[in-house]
Amino acid sequence: MNSPTPSSQPQTPAPDQEVVIEVDDLLMQFGSQTVLTGLDLKVRRGETLVIMGGSGCGKSTLLRLMIGAIAPTRGKIRLFGEDIAVASEANLDALRKRFGILFQSAALYQSMSIAENVALPMRELTDLPGDLIDLQVKMKLEAVGLREHADKFPAQISGGMKKRAGLARALALDPEIIFYDEPSAGLDPVTSAEIDQLILTLTKKLGVTSVVVTHEMDSAFTIADRMVMLDKGRCLKIAPRADYERIRSVSKDEAAVMPEDDRIVRQFVRGDAFGPITDRRTLTSYSDDLMGLLGHMPASPSITPSR
Ligand SMILES: Nc1ncnc2c1ncn2[C@@H]1O[C@H](COP(=O)(O)OP(=O)(O)O)[C@@H](O)[C@H]1O
Ligand SMILES: [Mg+2]
Repeated sequence: MNSPTPSSQPQTPAPDQEVVIEVDDLLMQFGSQTVLTGLDLKVRRGETLVIMGGSGCGKSTLLRLMIGAIAPTRGKIRLFGEDIAVASEANLDALRKRFGILFQSAALYQSMSIAENVALPMRELTDLPGDLIDLQVKMKLEAVGLREHADKFPAQISGGMKKRAGLARALALDPEIIFYDEPSAGLDPVTSAEIDQLILTLTKKLGVTSVVVTHEMDSAFTIADRMVMLDKGRCLKIAPRADYERIRSVSKDEAAVMPEDDRIVRQFVRGDAFGPITDRRTLTSYSDDLMGLLGHMPASPSITPSR
């Protein structure tokens, strides 16, 4: 385990709730690129954890690691206490029935009706008889407000409805955890707010644990119990929503004396054009530029001083 700096110290979630996902000293590399490093994270039953961070910082990668779709370079991921890197195929199948996923694109099959899309996981992963599946599909579609649209095809419904349909499908097997990858991406603000409300209702009504990747701040602050910001491959700050709200609202003068990590969080959640994130970027690209220039210089000066 890495010893994190004080401000990135994970805040222990309510200790009475079981840990359903545990990420332990995770390293993820693609070729020579390190995407996640020394990452520790716990998700407790019933909470909604929002994962944020700049584009390309590894949010989707972290989700894919959590569901066992890809294997970490190093480190452990336990899902319901089971190390998914070493779980047998049979155990993985059993685990897969316990979570649902709503991908960024909703990923519906275009050639199937909404009802058929929702029924698919039940047909593939359970032995339920057809009439029971139909009943379940109706209930899931009702839960997301799409019952009347059951027989439509994905091309016939709006973006928001597609997200709802994807959500109904994620709910198909009554999952204990739902993973969302940017559920409001590409939606107008009102539809996006509706999806947030739906996530909130489902989470609280069904007691589902939710792990939500988003960079829509309104959405994050609406649905999160806890929030984590990823930065440079690690958890910069994992804290209850109230702590993030406090950081968001501190004045510029107060911010000046905050720890660097909190100032980064502040700039990100406020969407400020200037701050430590942009300073860092400018500094890095400037030094990269200089290094690039140096790289192109001849090894020895071409103009030798004349004696
Ligand atoms: N399968 C892959 N092969 C190689 N590089 C990948 C792969 N998946 C993701 N990456 C790289 O990992 C980084 C993080 O990607 P991703 O997790 O999709 O970011 P985010 O979801 O935060 O925008 C990016 O630089 C991306 O190019
Ligand atoms: Mg992504």
